[in-house]
Amino acid sequence: MNPLPPATGEPYRVAMVCLGNICRSPMADVIMRDLVAGADLAERIEITSSGTGDWHLGHPMDSRAAAQLTSMSYDATQHRAQQFTVAWADRDLILAMDQSNLSNINTILGDQAKPGQVRLFREFDPLATSGDEVPDPYYGGDEGFTHVAEMVRRTCQNLLVRLTEVV
Ligand code: 4NP
Repeated sequence: MNPLPPATGEPYRVAMVCLGNICRSPMADVIMRDLVAGADLAERIEITSSGTGDWHLGHPMDSRAAAQLTSMSYDATQHRAQQFTVAWADRDLILAMDQSNLSNINTILGDQAKPGQVRLFREFDPLATSGDEVPDPYYGGDEGFTHVAEMVRRTCQNLLVRLTEVV
């Protein structure tokens, strides 16, 4: 188990990153924020999300992703898509949904990336093996969103345990 980067200040800043910032990273953002708030850590852990692409900037979450979260009693209405840029180098932990996102993030950050800062989100999934990704549900059916939501929730639960060791 690789250690998390130590806190550089408070709050500890976590960024969830995918391609469009309308499906996977917003689901991780909403679910993780809810868990952090439920643990009374909202002032100590900041959760944000962005996408490396610019097609959906300012848009709300994909309606299928939002419907899935709403069915699980989360509030999906506040999300607006943002783009990942080098300005996000100030995050303590940057979690990529898939290998392609990871590669894009590292290209954007260049020498601004710090050791241990940019990782695969599913490194924290207790059911994953090394290198596993969150599959992109955008071009598939509704069942893909259900599958992603379950994967994201269990990963976020374990991530919260890990974060409590560094904040
Ligand atoms: P996301 O899914 O990266 O999970 O938000 C996608 C959303 C939109 C596109 C690709 C992936 N797109 O090409 O527009």
